[in-house]
Amino acid sequence: MALFYTEEVIQEVVAANDIVDIVSGYVKLKRVGRGFVGICPFHNEKTPSFSVSQDKQLYHCFGCGAGGTVIQFIMSIEGLDFIEAVKFLAERAGIHLPEGNSDGDEARRFEKKQLALNINKEAAHFFHKCLMSDEGRYAREYLENRGIKPKTIISFGLGFSPNSWDALFKHLINCGYTVQDILDVGLIVENKNKNTYYDRFRNRIMFPIIDVRGNVVGFGGRVMGDSKPKYLNSPETIVFNKSRNLYGLNFAKNSKKNQLIVVEGYMDVISLHQNGIINTVASLGTALTPEQAKMIARFCSEVVIAYDSDEAGQAATIKGIEVLSEAGCKVKVLVLDEGKDPDEFIRSRGVERFEKAVKNSKSHIEYKIDLLKTKYDINDIEQKIAFVNAIAKIFAAVDNAVERDAYVKRISEKTGISSQAIFTEIEKIASKNSYKNKKNLKLKPVRPAESIPQKEYLIKTQKPESNVKLLNAEKMLLNLLCYDKSVFNAVKGMIGPKDFTYKVHAKMAEVIYDLREKGINFDAARLISMFEDEEVKQVTSILHMETFFDDNNDAAMELIDTIKKEKTMKGILSSLKEGNVEKLQALLIEYKGLQND
Ligand code: CTP
Ligand code: MN
Repeated sequence: MALFYTEEVIQEVVAANDIVDIVSGYVKLKRVGRGFVGICPFHNEKTPSFSVSQDKQLYHCFGCGAGGTVIQFIMSIEGLDFIEAVKFLAERAGIHLPEGNSDGDEARRFEKKQLALNINKEAAHFFHKCLMSDEGRYAREYLENRGIKPKTIISFGLGFSPNSWDALFKHLINCGYTVQDILDVGLIVENKNKNTYYDRFRNRIMFPIIDVRGNVVGFGGRVMGDSKPKYLNSPETIVFNKSRNLYGLNFAKNSKKNQLIVVEGYMDVISLHQNGIINTVASLGTALTPEQAKMIARFCSEVVIAYDSDEAGQAATIKGIEVLSEAGCKVKVLVLDEGKDPDEFIRSRGVERFEKAVKNSKSHIEYKIDLLKTKYDINDIEQKIAFVNAIAKIFAAVDNAVERDAYVKRISEKTGISSQAIFTEIEKIASKNSYKNKKNLKLKPVRPAESIPQKEYLIKTQKPESNVKLLNAEKMLLNLLCYDKSVFNAVKGMIGPKDFTYKVHAKMAEVIYDLREKGINFDAARLISMFEDEEVKQVTSILHMETFFDDNNDAAMELIDTIKKEKTMKGILSSLKEGNVEKLQALLIEYKGLQND
């Protein structure tokens, strides 16, 4: 790939941002031996398998395989692409970046994104101007009637899309944007029959959706009457992914509270913010996605779900509890009266009442129990059994025994079902679960690097069909070749890049050989910058290994020996399968020779 920034610029940025420093901003790290470990931010786990090496300036998760340099870390955790991550890190370190080179896929994608964001920004200005102009008078009245103050209109950048087929389209064309570019950000729609275009948003109140970095990534538009659809949103575009955005997070992230309130809609966020409750975000109508939950978990540890109390809201609450708990948040639920949403609540009852309701919100367990109570008639014996079974399932997931006891006691008092009966059910479920967990543990090693002997880890993480010995020998040898110049000089005549069996290994060897032949000094970060996506993880896992040999050169010789033997053995097995006698004989002789060496 052609690089947007030169190799030197990228290395300067990497060098200026210490990985332990950066990662510590997101993950609590603990020093263990020569490295650091913590709970992986990229998958859900209870015991730390996320390891950071300060010497090598790499991170690697032994649980999910995530890994790379500080650039990949920022890409994953901030949801940025490569160039954006470099910019992010340069800014943080006060490095002035030169103009980028604009060929290459990465660069084209970056420029397309910038263009889309510029068009969106222009459109947001246009909508806002329309709202403030004469033609927006009716829309302003609508907002006023809903209690939205002029100051709020400005801070949320609200707007109005005129009642015309092409007002925005014409405006953007006048600004110099092409039809295709405007089409790509979803602001116009093609009229297939006539080969003409019209504005997607017409005669609507416009809500720009702004990401945490202040970019307008998309829009929501609301009708002012009762026509349908009530809301229309931007389609998925290069800059807008509904499941990765939270409306209002650009403001909520500045709240000092360690708590976020999650609501359903645009108007709920705006209304609460206007009343000073700025720790509020909306999931944009859908149930929370795991991506949104992870974003939330980065900003706070406690979440209060305050969805509408209708069927859809209940279902979304249950789903929300699940994904937020999965992301590591403590979840509470604010139950609003029938038919009310947070906007209506605060408008009719005031801020104090709302704040009190937040304070009194239910734990997610209580919420689930109360919901179950409404679904079963416990005077009916069969429904009673089903009810006990359902609550036992909920209680079995409560880790804390004291907490569980308290819940059981309370439910027993309220329903007249004996505590003993509930405990018996819980135990049945718990023993089933622990059996399941044990099985899972065997399949997935998730222990920190330092507590796993290297060999054991390597073997555990291999697919059963691969040749473990060969795979590990190649990995170790590549590790030595990368970190020890003398090993390269000693073995370069004995083994070349093409002798490595696995594709990524061969490519990695090629890169190392090339750099070493040219006498270029390099480190792990430099090497990683030459790989992309999935390869980065594999290369990182090799570079992250700590090898402790008495003599690296001796070790390398042994590894080469193993590689040759295992490769020959592999050949023998396949020629046996093919029934190729000639090849088999030749390989057997070769194998014998290797054993005598
Ligand atoms: N929504 C949507 N498309 C729809 C309906 C709703 O995208 N056709 C999303 C919007 O983000 C909306 C949220 O779901 O804000 C909640 O919907 P709803 O409760 O119907 O709207 P309110 O936010 O209560 O809007 P309002 O108070 O203006 O009626
Ligand atoms: Mn509403």
